[in-house]
Amino acid sequence: MTTVIGTLQSEMKGTSSTPTMSSTDYQGGLVTHIKDPWECVAIEDFLPKERWEVIKNLGQIHLEKYYEIGVTTRDYEKPELAVRNKYSWYEDEDIIPETNELFYKYDLPYREYQGKLKKIIHWAIAPPRWSYPAHCDNRARISTTILYVSPEKSDGTILHKNSSTNDGGDHEEADLPSDYTYELEWKPNKAFFHNCIPNKTWHSISNETDSPRITLNSFFVQEDLVLPNRIYSGHEITI
Ligand SMILES: [Fe+2]
Repeated sequence: MTTVIGTLQSEMKGTSSTPTMSSTDYQGGLVTHIKDPWECVAIEDFLPKERWEVIKNLGQIHLEKYYEIGVTTRDYEKPELAVRNKYSWYEDEDIIPETNELFYKYDLPYREYQGKLKKIIHWAIAPPRWSYPAHCDNRARISTTILYVSPEKSDGTILHKNSSTNDGGDHEEADLPSDYTYELEWKPNKAFFHNCIPNKTWHSISNETDSPRITLNSFFVQEDLVLPNRIYSGHEITI
C-alpha cells in the first residue's frame, strides 16, 4: 500500500495533498493519524515513564496468571470458535484513565450513541500462534483503545479494506476477502485508538510469535447494548 507521510500542520495549511497518514506529537509521544484503509490513531510512548512501569508490571502479573491458568474459555460459547480463546481479565476500576480523553481529542468518525458512555477494561493475552479473523468490534463499543504491552517484538493490529456487509454487531468474521490490509507496527507502550464503525472498521489480530502477546484493552461502551451473560458483563466502569 502506498502511504504519504506529512504533518497535521502541513495538512491544515493545505500543503499536503490527501495524505493517507500524518504524524504529530502527543505529550512527547509520536502520533500517527492513519487514514487508509480507515481512520485511526497510533500513539507511541503513550504513557509517561513512571505510569508505563506500573502498567508493564501489572502485565507481568497477568502473564504469570496466564501461565498458571491458561486461556479463559468463557468468551465464546461455540466450540468452533475455541481457537480464538485467549486469556482475558476484566478490571473493575479505571486503571488506565489516560485513554479517556482520546475519544474527545481525536475527531474521528463515530457511531451515534445514547446515554453516558461507560468503560470496559480488560487484559488480553494471546497465546503463541494465535489468530483472530477480520471483524468489527461489538455494537456496544463506541470507541476502542488497545495498548501494546509486551513482549518487545510481536504483531500489531491488521487493518482491512473490506467490502463485507455481514457485520451483525457481535464480532462476525468478514465474509468477503479483503482488498488490502495495513499492519500497525508492534511497539510496547504504543496505543492504537479507533472508533468502531459497523461494516467499516474491519481488523484482525494475530500472534505469529513464540511469546504470549499482552495488550491492555479499553472500550467506551453504550451500557444498554452490552450483552448479558458475557465474560465482560457487569464490568462496566463509570467514568
Ligand atoms: Fe477488535
